Amino acid sequence: MTVQEPMAPDYERAVDLMVDAVKVVLFTGAGMSKDSGVDTFRGPGGIWERFSAADLATYEGFIRDPAKVWKWNEHRRQQVAGLTPHQGYLALAEMEDLFPEVVVITQNIDGLHARSGATHVVELHGNIWKVRCDAENNTPWLDERTEFPEVPLHCENCGGLLRPHIVWFGEPLDPMDTLAAQAESSSCDAMLVIGTSAVVYPAAGYPMVAKQNGAAMIEVNIEPTPISEYADISLFGKAEEVLPALLAALRERMDKKE
Ligand code: APR
Repeated sequence: MTVQEPMAPDYERAVDLMVDAVKVVLFTGAGMSKDSGVDTFRGPGGIWERFSAADLATYEGFIRDPAKVWKWNEHRRQQVAGLTPHQGYLALAEMEDLFPEVVVITQNIDGLHARSGATHVVELHGNIWKVRCDAENNTPWLDERTEFPEVPLHCENCGGLLRPHIVWFGEPLDPMDTLAAQAESSSCDAMLVIGTSAVVYPAAGYPMVAKQNGAAMIEVNIEPTPISEYADISLFGKAEEVLPALLAALRERMDKKE
């Protein structure tokens, strides 16, 4: 059997699917940040191949060894702090000029969408730059330190453990975020699904919500995923290359229409 090479991206077909959209949702996963230097979770060299998700990304792991989990988060913050959002991130932020409504729904916790200028971002899995008190379970607040004075961190108010404002395995997503993601996915005209293996639920379900409600689905990934068979088109390639090219193709078509 011969393995079929993914075809070169058909940008004109993707533009056909997107050009008349009023609301566009940009649904992103770890592959979106890969070209900025953030590792993905799955696949060769992925984070969960090298580190234990049970130790570093569950509440039980945190309670077992909070210092270890905080050291890991300090390390990841340091990685992300020095990064620049790549051209694909900037292209997504610029899509706000092209469509009446653009919403980012991301599984990423690195905050790179906001840093690249996106104004409407739903962070389904939290944000590495936020903390909350585990004892008081209060509203999360921004903590932009990259070197911690002590690990684990403690709450200044009650002395309890602070935890990263991240959704760990086995934890529910914030209902405000899931309601927003459900509403935006079910009312968009087109969804770009970028850099996700689409295996972690409930997040991975939103592209199907969009599809079931009649939206066009355009996938951007370096390889086929479980989403590919439902996508109207898959643009195979790196996010930092495909997204600027897609933006340019959209601009060209929209300029011609004017
Ligand atoms: N451009 C586009 N896509 C890419 C690139 C790239 N440069 N590099 C990798 N990819 C794709 C991979 O082919 C894969 O489909 O990105 C995807 C990354 O998949 P995962 O590592 O599983 O990331 P994600 O889907 O975001 O994981 C979901 O799992 O561990 C949890 O909470 C974590 O939010 C995360 C969730």
